Amino acid sequence: QVLAAIEGRAELGRRLSAALGIPSVVVVAGDSDEEAWVKDMLGYHAAVCLREHLLPGDVVAVSGGSTMAALAKRMPERAGPPGVKVVPARGGLGEAIALEANTIAAELAARLGGTSVMLHVPDYVREETLQHLLEEPDIEQRIAEVRAATVVVHGIGGALQMAARRGLPAAEQAKLVERGAVAEAFGYYFDRNGRTVLAMSVIGLRLADLRRARLVMAVAGGRSKAGAIAAAAKAYRIDVLVTDEGAGHQILSMQ
Ligand code: G3H
Repeated sequence: QVLAAIEGRAELGRRLSAALGIPSVVVVAGDSDEEAWVKDMLGYHAAVCLREHLLPGDVVAVSGGSTMAALAKRMPERAGPPGVKVVPARGGLGEAIALEANTIAAELAARLGGTSVMLHVPDYVREETLQHLLEEPDIEQRIAEVRAATVVVHGIGGALQMAARRGLPAAEQAKLVERGAVAEAFGYYFDRNGRTVLAMSVIGLRLADLRRARLVMAVAGGRSKAGAIAAAAKAYRIDVLVTDEGAGHQILSMQ
């Protein structure tokens, strides 16, 4: 019975791979919308998968969110390849501190025995302040480092849920509704066809940078995220997706 369940998830992964155009899809049991331990398992499997792919000297950019926090928490505490550096994919995006990419990067680096850097840039600053910040040599150099990441690991969220969680101004939230946004990743909002309908702060990784990365890994589960995952798969290249059965079955039923 256990074997049949494992076989079933492997088959689900193959079908999702074909449907989404993502070369490798790992599916964990359950639905993280329904049970908290499923997100923990997502984090664990994603952590193991990430560790397997790391090479010496990799610069790993991580996003924020509760799924990435689970990944960092479940990363086995054992030295990874030498010279690994973990960087936040973007500066502050309005998340609670525990869910900020900065915090997650620091924890992940500590568990891998690597180093990390922080990007301290507030979300809503006036345009001129932003320009001054971007000209600071220290910030400029860190942004360049983030944008040249060799590995990118990130969460995907529902657009409206993420906008509300991050306290986007009402006018911005209304724009998202009007433009049919369904997914959010790295502070970019996408519609169901994968078109960018809104992009937040310019501090950090940009979508175009993903082309240069050796590996782009997405981690997202829960039936409610099915539409968001499918939209993200259309928006940019994902090499590995770690998801759960809840999202997986729902994605296939939407095809
Ligand atoms: O950017 C998307 C979010 O990182 C997803 O957040 O993992 O808490 O659902 P979550």
